[in-house]
Order: sequence, then structure tokens, then C-alpha cells
Amino acid sequence: MIKVTYVASDGTKTDVEVHEGNSLMHAAVANGLDGIIGECGGSAMCATCHVYVDEAFADRLPPIDDMEEEMLECTASERRKTSRLSCQIEASSEIDGIVVSMPETQI
Ligand code: FES
Repeated sequence: MIKVTYVASDGTKTDVEVHEGNSLMHAAVANGLDGIIGECGGSAMCATCHVYVDEAFADRLPPIDDMEEEMLECTASERRKTSRLSCQIEASSEIDGIVVSMPETQI
């Protein structure tokens, strides 16, 4: 298990213990966090799992592939330098303690 901190657009922080191998999108949905929808179930087809990754962790994630890149062009809230799809972020010990901020809207 690793710790993930989700920060809502109003600044509310929620710490969640996430099993390694689980995606940050699935963990958010399973814990009832409103800021992440995950409409496509994690296939990188909807962009409703958009998050802003804390800069300190952004470099520890695998690079953005073509499919994620395409979806990040369609986010409902502005895309920023550390924008990622949380369904493409897999919990691992490398990112224990990661902080992700959820945008104001996903639709
Ligand atoms: S859940 Fe649809 S793109 Fe991540």
C-alpha cells in the first residue's frame, strides 16, 4: 500500500491508502472522491480522470504515451505542465506519498 493525497479544487485533502498496481483513478472512485469520474473505466478514452500531479512527483511517472497525450488535449479544465490522466498512473513504491490535485471540473 502507498499513500496518495488527493486535493479537491476547494483545497480539501483526502489521504487514501492504495494497493500497488491499482490506478489512482480507481482508488479515487472506490473512495467516493467527487473530483474524479473515470467514465471510460480507465482506457484513456474520456479524460474525466484528469489530475495535476505535484511537481515533486511528476518526473517519477512514466512518460505520457500517444493515447494519453491525445486525451490530455480534451480535458474539461485547462491542461497544465503536470497534467496527467490518473487512470494511467499506477500505484507503486516509487510514488509513495504522491499528491495529485483534482481540477474544478471533469465535464
Ligand atoms: S478514466 Fe477515462 S481516461 Fe482515465
